[in-house]
Amino acid sequence: MPRLQLAPSILTVDFGRLTEEVQAVAPHVDWFHLDVMDGHYVPNLTFGPSTVEAVRRACDVPLHVHLMIDNPGEFAAALAAAGAKRITFHPEVTSDPSSVIESIVEAGCEVGIAVHPDVDLEFVGKYLFELDVVLMMTVRPGFGGQKFMGEVVPKIEAARRLVDSEGARADVEVDGGIKIDNVDLVVNAGANIVVSGSGIYDGMDAPAAALRLRSRLEELASTVGEAS
Ligand code: DX5
Ligand code: ZN
Repeated sequence: MPRLQLAPSILTVDFGRLTEEVQAVAPHVDWFHLDVMDGHYVPNLTFGPSTVEAVRRACDVPLHVHLMIDNPGEFAAALAAAGAKRITFHPEVTSDPSSVIESIVEAGCEVGIAVHPDVDLEFVGKYLFELDVVLMMTVRPGFGGQKFMGEVVPKIEAARRLVDSEGARADVEVDGGIKIDNVDLVVNAGANIVVSGSGIYDGMDAPAAALRLRSRLEELASTVGEAS
């Protein structure tokens, strides 16, 4: 099992104070998880490359862009230029996922496939060795602050088994409804990167919430046999 990592989603930050919100938790986290939505693939709109760039300017934490858009290949270069290190897309939006993977790699970024709760692991199996991350959705994509879908847990376990049994390099990341009270469940299922949006940016004390999750991940690392 690779290192356990924490990735706050900024979806529920106060965007009027984006720099401060990002800098407040940056010392305690491994990634920022940036949810780009287009109003087509999901019934919501968020932000694009200029916000990615603003987060980039605010901190040195690596940025993982989660694309919930119909045309992911068209934005890889702009997102890479804005500072994305990783770009993940939902493969069911396109008839040609391999060309999207190619455009992300050509842009100089690491690649991820996101797995919607209603989609199985077929795409992950097909492109496994090209992936740096498999993003297991534990809510229906579209909004922060939704309830964790426990029924996805067996699929997280299956994703971890697939990655390990094939000796693939991909991280297994979980996304949606994860907070201090269910982080054990997803890590024990095989996740090694944990996204938390409203579990950190809860309108109260974001650094304290990030630190609570960080220390729980450190405790869990000793029980799940994390590699150094
Ligand atoms: C949902 C997004 C998630 C979400 C996580 O479409 O992909 O990243 O913002 O936020 P919480 O942790 O509040 O579910
Ligand atoms: Zn996300």
